[in-house]
Amino acid sequence: MNYKELIKIALEYRERAYIPYSNFKVGAAVLFDSGNIYGGCNIENASFGATNCAERTAIFKGISEGEKEIKAVAVVGDLNTYTYPCGICRQVIAEFGNMDIKVILAKNENDYIVKDLSEVLPGAFTKEDLNK
Ligand code: THU
Repeated sequence: MNYKELIKIALEYRERAYIPYSNFKVGAAVLFDSGNIYGGCNIENASFGATNCAERTAIFKGISEGEKEIKAVAVVGDLNTYTYPCGICRQVIAEFGNMDIKVILAKNENDYIVKDLSEVLPGAFTKEDLNK
């Protein structure tokens, strides 16, 4: 898996962030099992709760194009720290793949850490729980 390529795309989309309220840019790139990659940015709203995170922008783009399973998600927020996906985005990532999805937290293409989804969302509630 080419983490650097994913991070590069996340960085490109980060520049498209619509952030008049927080001024906090986030970019994400999602790799699906098809091999296709979708990028996204955060999109804020005057009604703050209507804001969409970068990760969900990218995931929803892919799912709405017919993609099925997430393999990896790269996130770039503050360039000086590793920005983790928010709780809602972790839950949305879990909906579309296994707990070994790779979550890549990057400052740039040469400085990143890789976590399994199980590490950032332990004890996840998933569709399997509904079928018990
Ligand atoms: N944000 C994301 O895009 N992804 C995250 O996982 C964390 C938060 C955005 C939402 C909002 O536009 C800004 O960062 C500040 O919360």
